[in-house]
Order: sequence, then C-alpha cells, then structure tokens
Amino acid sequence: MNLKEEFIKFFVAKGHVEIPSAPLIPENDPTVLFNTAGMQPLVPYLLGEKHPLGKRLCDAQKCVRLTDLESIGDKTHHTFFEMLGNWSLGDYFKKESIGYSFEFLTKVLNIPINRLAVTVFIGNDDIPKDDSSAKIWQDLGIPKERIVYLGVEDNFWIAGDSGPCGGDTEIFYFRSNEEIPKAFDPNDDRWVEIWNNVFMEFYKNSDGSIRELEQKNVDTGMGLERIVAVLENKDDNYMSSIWQQIIKKIEQISDKSYNGNEFSMRVIADHIRTSVFISADRAGIKPSNTDQGYILRRLIRRAVRHAKKLGIDTSINWMEPIALEVIKKYENDYEEIKDNKEVVLKVLEEECKKFNKTLEKGLKEFDKLLNNLSNNVIDKDNAFKLYDTYGFPIELTVELANEKGLMVDIAGFKEKFQLHQELSRTASAGKFKGGLMGHSDIEIKYHTATHLLNAALKLVVSKDVHQKGSNINEERMRFDFSCDHKLTDEEKNKVEALVNEWIRAGLEVTSLEMNKEEAIKSGAEAMFIEKYADIVTVYKIGDVSKEICGGPHVNNTRELGHFKIVKEEASSSGVRRIKAILE
Ligand code: SER
Repeated sequence: MNLKEEFIKFFVAKGHVEIPSAPLIPENDPTVLFNTAGMQPLVPYLLGEKHPLGKRLCDAQKCVRLTDLESIGDKTHHTFFEMLGNWSLGDYFKKESIGYSFEFLTKVLNIPINRLAVTVFIGNDDIPKDDSSAKIWQDLGIPKERIVYLGVEDNFWIAGDSGPCGGDTEIFYFRSNEEIPKAFDPNDDRWVEIWNNVFMEFYKNSDGSIRELEQKNVDTGMGLERIVAVLENKDDNYMSSIWQQIIKKIEQISDKSYNGNEFSMRVIADHIRTSVFISADRAGIKPSNTDQGYILRRLIRRAVRHAKKLGIDTSINWMEPIALEVIKKYENDYEEIKDNKEVVLKVLEEECKKFNKTLEKGLKEFDKLLNNLSNNVIDKDNAFKLYDTYGFPIELTVELANEKGLMVDIAGFKEKFQLHQELSRTASAGKFKGGLMGHSDIEIKYHTATHLLNAALKLVVSKDVHQKGSNINEERMRFDFSCDHKLTDEEKNKVEALVNEWIRAGLEVTSLEMNKEEAIKSGAEAMFIEKYADIVTVYKIGDVSKEICGGPHVNNTRELGHFKIVKEEASSSGVRRIKAILE
C-alpha cells in the first residue's frame, strides 16, 4: 500500500482538494529557515485569506526540523520528513476532523481500536478544557481510560512564539508485541504519537496575549516516516521500506552491516537525504556559513565524519551513489529533485572535497598544537579553534587526542560553544525555532514592492529577468533574480525611478482567481510553475504587474511611500540580489 496515496485519496473523497507541497525553503517569511510543518505555507489562509481551492485541503509537505541535530542517529528522528496533512479553513471542526482521522486509521489502515489512545487539551487560563473532543473520541469507541488530558506542553500547538494556534488532540498507537495495557500512559514509550489534530481557533500575539481568530480551522499533521514504520511493525524507522534501499547502499559502500553500525548509518542516511532536498530546492542554496547554507554544510560534514567512522574512503566521491538512491526514491514525487539532480550531486561532491581539505589543514594544526602542549590537556581555546576555524567536531578532537593519550577540556569547549551559538543566533533569532507570524503592515508593503521591482527590472534590464527568490522582514526586502551582469548605476536609477513613479501613480492592486494554465497564458508572472495548484490567485497592480501569488498585498501602491535600492550584489552564478527599503 502506498500510504501517501491512500491518505490523499481518502481526504479527496471527503471533499478536500490536494495541494502541491510548497518549497522546503519558504518565500517571504524571514522567521523560519525551512518549512517545519504542513500548516506553515497556509498561514494566510488560516488567518482568513480566501484560498483559491476552497476550504478543505490536503497534502504531503516537505519539512525540515533541526531542533537538535546531535540527536539525529537515534531510531525515530529525522531532519527531513514528509508530513501528511488535512485542513479545514473555517469549514468543519472537531467532530468531523476526529471522525475522519478515526475512519482513516481504523478503516483504511485497519488499525484495531484496541491499539489506539488519545490525549486532549486540559485547558488553561485562556482556553477551556477540551471535553468536547474527549466526548467525540468516546462516542467513536475509545474507552475513557485511553483518553488522557494534558497541558500546554503537550496539547497546544503553535509554530514558534506567535501566530495561529490552538489546543490539539494527539493520537497514539501501541507499538509493541507485549500485552496492551488497559489504560493509556503517555509516558510509556511503547505508545507512539502518530497524528496531531490541531483546532486552530486562536491567534497568539507577540506579547503573549491570545485572541480568537475570525474562523475556526483544523490543521492536522502525520509524519510519514513514523506511520510507515509503525504499520510495518518496525521500532526503528530506518528499518522501514522508506529507508531500505538507502541503508543497503551504505552497507555496500562501507562493506559493513547495519547491525552494530546503526548510529553512523542513520546519520549518513538522514543527512544525505536532507542535503539532497535542501540543495535541490529552487532557492539554489549552497553550503555556506549562514542560514540554510550553514545547515547544509553541517549536514554534509557530519555525514562525512560518520562515513570516516565506518571506514569509508572519503577521499573519493563516496556520497554520490547514496545521493542517487535518494534521488531515485523521490524524483517522481518532487520535480525539483529530478530537474536539479546534477546540481545536487555537484554540491555534495564539492563540499566533501572542501571538508577534506579543511580536515587536512586541521590535522596539521593539531600536530602543531601537540608540539606546543605544556601538559596533557587540550584546552578549551584550542579545542574551539579547531572547531571554529578548521571545522573539527569536538568528538573528532577527542578521538585524535585519545590516540595520543591526551585529554580535552570538553566542558570548557561546550561553554565556549554555547556562547558562540548564542551570539550567532541573535542575528537570526527565532529562525531555528520554527515560527510564522501573520504579516505585519510593513511586510505587506514590501511584498507589493517586490512585484513592482520585478516588473521594473523586466522593463529596464531585460524581459528575461525572473524572480529567483525573495525574503522580507520588517526592515527591508531582498529580491533575487536571474541576470547575467552586475546592474549599472543607470539601470539601478531607472529601476528605482520607475517603481517610485508607479507608487506615486496610486495604482490599484486587485486579485483574481483563475485556472493555472489560463493565468500563465495571460502573461502572469509565475516563479515555479509546478508548485502552484490548478486554480491560482493572480495579483494585478494597475497595468504594470501581474503575478501568481498568495498575497497579502496593499490595496493601492500609494501606501508604499518611497522605494530605495540600498544594495545590488551577486547572489549565485547568474543570479543577482537587490536589497531595498521603503522610506
Ligand atoms: N501543525 C501540527 C504539527 O506540526 C499539525 O499539523 O504537529
């Protein structure tokens, strides 16, 4: 059975429309590096914007979660995963949502009721206890002793610190051949959570206060990797059919068996799969020292490190066969994987080479350090230098030190490391937590300005200019576009003048829903055509711009104020980047 297909088929039969997975790297959302949940690309619609495909949606969304990279290697965690989800945008609520989940689990997946248990929200000062969900579960046949009330930590869901949110009910499955206890104990890890139904009826403001949303939504999420493992009766996700071929390939390359080498093999499998997805995303992420690029770099390097542990010869292009296995598995579901196959392979190969060189230099530095050592301890400053300048993970330093009968001040290193992390995170505060806010007024303005800039570049620079990415925060907009040269001052001035002319002209911003093909034919600008659903919203600004876009936008360009380009620079090969502000 193809679980993804069954899930979609089931919800389509219940009146939902399947939407394509949004890209892994969110556009116009500075608060997150990656989509971390299926609901993230849907925030505007959860807040009340009308979705062109209606009020019932379902999909499988690509997600990356990075809460604790070092813990990856255990049986159940992954940095990348696919999340199956269904949504009601102000349509059905608890009764139908719980009913659908129950029906899918017991009728389609044929899970016996006896293996199921649930948690519901116990309530707090703002939100009452969720007796109604408990009653719905009971009416469906879940006994009272299998329904547990828990607090905010467990049964309240929000992405990040502010945004749409609500109490939830989580569904658990008893994954063990032992006798199933009558009563459900959420702390007994034989019970694994498989599905989360969030009743998103509130909005949490950044000051912590909560208000009711205009509409009551449902947002559900079921991690594909976990449910497949559960159904295949595996307590190690990596033993499920999803990972089989990838693990086999790693066994072959390392000439070792999975048994006894699980941790390193899981790290390699997980990190290469995630690296393939990140580098295949149309945003064109390359390994670097900031944001998504830094994550990509860390993933690749950690995989190399574990390959060395397995005795794999990392001086050759060892990642490629494993990456090809990942590509083979996903290229039919995700077009960007197929299209960017060569790019992905090159990114992996080059970063491995770079890391090898760094390692070489680091080893020299390590030897130098040994010669100057006055006692048998590598102090925190040296351990941190090896990490920071030479990319040595601390465990590598420890391993090398042990070989020489030396010790490492690990505690001191950790202190320095934490301080360093805090410093580097202040710059991108919140990004690692995963969060998505409602758009502020200034962000909405920047969003509209993005469309004007795109249109102006086409007129001034070349009609072949296309948007490659965009990123907005409260301070500025950033716009990446295809272009083969550095803009001249004249071009920059002309673009700026044109955008300001359009702002002053007070152009109306209007939106229209239409068939995707029709929209393209009518000349609407589209960034990545395959990511759009069949019916799309087209935003028009006077007669100067027409783009497929989810909004939101201002009503009239006059609201934007004055537009100014502050920087124009290279972003990657063939792609330029403009940073601009509204004053
Ligand atoms: N947003 C919720 C989650 O990620 C349900 O989809 O668990």
